[in-house]
Amino acid sequence: MNICFLMYPWEQIDPENDTSLALIKECARRGHGVALCSPANLTIRNSVTNAFCTVISRMEKVPASLKSFYNKAILREEMLPLAGFDVIFMRANPPLDPIMLNFLDSVKDDVFIVNSLQGLREANNKLYTAAFGDSHSNIIPATHVSKNKQYLVDQIKESTAERMILKPLNGFGGSGVILIEKSAMSNIKSLLDFYVTNADGSSNYVILQEYIEGADQGDVRILLLNGEPIGAMRRIPSAEDHRSNVTAGGSIAKHHLSKEEKALCKQIGPKLVNDGLFFVGIDVIGGKLVEVNVMSPGGITYMNKVYKAKLECKVIDFIESKVLDKLQAFDRRSRLRKTVEDA
Ligand SMILES: Nc1ncnc2c1ncn2[C@@H]1O[C@H](COP(=O)(O)OP(=O)(O)O)[C@@H](O)[C@H]1O
Ligand SMILES: [Mg+2]
Repeated sequence: MNICFLMYPWEQIDPENDTSLALIKECARRGHGVALCSPANLTIRNSVTNAFCTVISRMEKVPASLKSFYNKAILREEMLPLAGFDVIFMRANPPLDPIMLNFLDSVKDDVFIVNSLQGLREANNKLYTAAFGDSHSNIIPATHVSKNKQYLVDQIKESTAERMILKPLNGFGGSGVILIEKSAMSNIKSLLDFYVTNADGSSNYVILQEYIEGADQGDVRILLLNGEPIGAMRRIPSAEDHRSNVTAGGSIAKHHLSKEEKALCKQIGPKLVNDGLFFVGIDVIGGKLVEVNVMSPGGITYMNKVYKAKLECKVIDFIESKVLDKLQAFDRRSRLRKTVEDA
């Protein structure tokens, strides 16, 4: 099959820890045609959606380590029509560019896109989790999203909790996620001014969330493929930070899913699949769902290290089976059309 990774440029890949690179390498190892393109490289050429792609030349033998694969890969630039690929694997970082989705709308019937455009539209920011409809906070921590600064101040004042989390709707890698304490209320208004109101007069939604006790022991990243967990790890924050993200200094440890976490996956898995969210990373603290990452979930390389696993194989197996289903459906339809034509 031929697969196009729609993601950040090759130069921005971390050759040691990048989940996208692990997926790319596995495709190359299986002899699939692999290209990369970034959202900015999408182009309409004579009314057909194309992209300036970085194509990875086929290798006789794909090196075992990610780093040597990255260093040895021979790349060439080529403009290619997106509908000619079997798969588009979305691995761009948030925020989601709505224009990019408009480009992809034109090929969505021809190409298997993971995650689906509909799913990406619905779940590209933290509102997807915040609005899960869990008013009793059984699986989601108590969450408010608003641009109304007074509303947010009132919620903090009314809350019985001493600590809360404030975060932007669109961040990733822990960026802008801050711990606020009731004892430091004199800062709150200034913080909300900063988070909500931009210099040009426009404004942002912010999330105010119950601080989940135990978060200082780390959070759990679970990767779900087709609604089922395929791997998990604990991320433990450094002594200087409350956030567990690896990019914020968190370290990685093995984690076996608890009964509660398995039940959470069972509960949300069908919704994820129904929304076309086939490959996602969820962040869980104390059994509660903090975030669903659908744009470019990471963790495969770290989980592979701690478990001596090759999780990318499971992901590419799944994608191959989806492509096969699509090809078989196409063949069947061609045969049926022929039967009717010949009648
Ligand atoms: N409600 C919360 N309670 C405790 N810690 C939290 C909460 N929300 C976020 N955090 C901490 O901040 C980190 C980043 O938050 P998250 O919502 O996953 O945003 P990001 O997209 O930046 O990863 C989490 O992994 C966790 O360590
Ligand atoms: Mg997160």
